[in-house]
Amino acid sequence: MRLVLVGPPGAGKGTQAEFVATQLSVPKISTGDIFRANVTGGTELGIEAKRYMDAGDLVPDEVTINMVRDRLGEADAADGFLLDGFPRTVPQAQALDKLLADMGTGLDLVLELVVDDDEVIRRLSGRRTCRGCGKIWHVEFDQPQVEDVCDRCGSELYQRDDDKPDTVANRLRVYARDTAPLIGFYGKAGKLVGLDATGPVEDVTARAMAILSSYEA
Ligand code: AP5
Repeated sequence: MRLVLVGPPGAGKGTQAEFVATQLSVPKISTGDIFRANVTGGTELGIEAKRYMDAGDLVPDEVTINMVRDRLGEADAADGFLLDGFPRTVPQAQALDKLLADMGTGLDLVLELVVDDDEVIRRLSGRRTCRGCGKIWHVEFDQPQVEDVCDRCGSELYQRDDDKPDTVANRLRVYARDTAPLIGFYGKAGKLVGLDATGPVEDVTARAMAILSSYEA
């Protein structure tokens, strides 16, 4: 299956992507994670991306599209993938359509995680991420057994720089301006399905899997 998750910052895309990709046996491809790995590695791409990420702005389309084209060309993505955080603009969505058409395939489904701004702010302000394996935690909703230590790999948890209140406010504005138009774009293409992303993580996963199994059936 070739699947896209779309939704505002903090909607739970990364959290759900991890479960859903495992269930579907496809790679999870998160442009945010790839940019953060490049920032940590101090690569040229990371240095360029960091300027935008720190402000809560989008990395330019050309840079992002080239990066995704390379990633989708890897062997593990040949039979399916789950994209988390891409596309994020209509030009990115058009480039993805073209890229997949050139590969003789297309997107199956776009899941829109629906959650309101107040919940997004609660989720982002308490988010913690593992420095080792990247697992996402929350100080209130999904706590590790030992504070600031990842249960899965034992590494330290950290708070993302772009989860500061001013940056979050800009990310929400950027979402409304640049990314929300994708809802109409994919709606018109008949690919969009809304997913109620409120309530416990497991409930959201169950709803997502119900949608996906009815699609596969
Ligand atoms: P990216 O990393 O993609 O950030 P984002 O889309 O803003 O999404 P987040 O990762 O903040 O949130 P999420 O929806 O994954 O939520 P999560 O599961 O963590 O991008 C970062 C930056 O990179 C961008 O700002 C941009 O600069 C750049 N970038 C990336 N892609 C780009 C692109 N295509 N084009 C241009 N630039 C790009 O959950 C949040 C918290 O809530 C967690 O703590 C979690 O534990 C908790 N939580 C999750 N689900 C629930 C639940 N059901 N109940 C309670 N808590 C929950």
